[in-house]
Amino acid sequence: MADTATPTARIRTQPARIDPHRIRADFPILATANRFGKPLVYLDSAATSLKPKAVIEAVDGYNSEYSSNIHRGIYEIAERATAAYEAARVSTARLINAPEAAEIVFVRNATEAINLVAYSWGRRNIGRGDTIVLTEMEHHANLVPWQVLVQERDGDLEFIPITDDGLLRLEVYEALLHLHPKLVAFTHVSNMLGTINPVRELTEMAHAAGALVLIDGAQAVPHIPVDVQAIGADFYVFSGHKMLGPTGSGALWARRELLEAMPPFLAGGDMIREVHLRRSDWNEIPYKFEAGTPDIAAEIGLGAAAEYLMGLGMDAIRVHEQELARYAIETLRREVPGIEMYGPEAGDRGGVVSFNLPGIHPHDVAQILDRSGICIRAGHHCTMPLHERFDLAATARASFNVYTIPEEIDALAVGLREVVRIFER
Ligand code: ALA
Repeated sequence: MADTATPTARIRTQPARIDPHRIRADFPILATANRFGKPLVYLDSAATSLKPKAVIEAVDGYNSEYSSNIHRGIYEIAERATAAYEAARVSTARLINAPEAAEIVFVRNATEAINLVAYSWGRRNIGRGDTIVLTEMEHHANLVPWQVLVQERDGDLEFIPITDDGLLRLEVYEALLHLHPKLVAFTHVSNMLGTINPVRELTEMAHAAGALVLIDGAQAVPHIPVDVQAIGADFYVFSGHKMLGPTGSGALWARRELLEAMPPFLAGGDMIREVHLRRSDWNEIPYKFEAGTPDIAAEIGLGAAAEYLMGLGMDAIRVHEQELARYAIETLRREVPGIEMYGPEAGDRGGVVSFNLPGIHPHDVAQILDRSGICIRAGHHCTMPLHERFDLAATARASFNVYTIPEEIDALAVGLREVVRIFER
């Protein structure tokens, strides 16, 4: 077949690509240097991403040109603010292929979105003896709210264990589904292992057992194409600040009928239709879940970030970060003797590489790298149970984004060799 394909057909089969060297010009912070005059080598994008000019200008534009409240004012700048805020909701919906923008609830971050579901849906639907299934690789945000819920409601938590390669053990999951859980909640991409979970398969299995599904997409939405309709999930949550957007922005997506049936999480202005002294009626979705004045500037910035990502193309971003992960694993394995890395093989993971140098605490690693302008995260990355699973107190972690270039991974390898040299003295 390949021999008879026309040149055009062959071109079409090439994966789309991004040019990270060109993209770097969009991120003003990458032109800065640290106190030693070293250029910024930012390898901590899983903690929070850098922000492009398009996002900075969207936030500045609101603050300097049309700063006013939304859904209230009947004057030009207020109408402009409402239009920009609602346009951001449409962009956010498009990014994850939500069926309608009204199913996007703006929140401060993925943590708040999960708490919203745990308080609103959870307190209405989880009772004595009900089970929620999670995984051993959850970030604390997708663990602690469920612990609080089951402690209060006398329910149970069960956990899908993982293999030494950092993959979910699906045969145990299948057995756990015989407990007829009410909810299965799991991360799309692990922030420590880089594992990309088979979310569609996990969701189909949960639904066949009668459970609803919540997916923590904080580490997925910025990095891989996400289509909530194709996945078939019930709830999908993510943070803006990890996807090139501002801190204080984020979204909960849920199916309309779920949001309509759920009681409010926070109560106050804007989430009501009518208020009397002794009772109130709730506004339509999504406003029912957006009490008080939201972080208007941040959500407008989130919309700009969604447009920026879609402009680059999520398929192309995925290819870039897959290549970086492979390059990082190969380079560090070759250049840094004794390095121990965690997670699945290079081709199947997101742009996150957690590692340890034998006998050197990750905090020392991070501190020495900082002198060379290299930023990595060191610690438990809000995944203490996952570190316990691997019998680790802490790890160092390098994580990538659209602006990351292989030269930065080379700089990391040089920096790590220097760390080893310092500890050998
Ligand atoms: N969850 C963020 C991280 O993985 C903060 O670093």
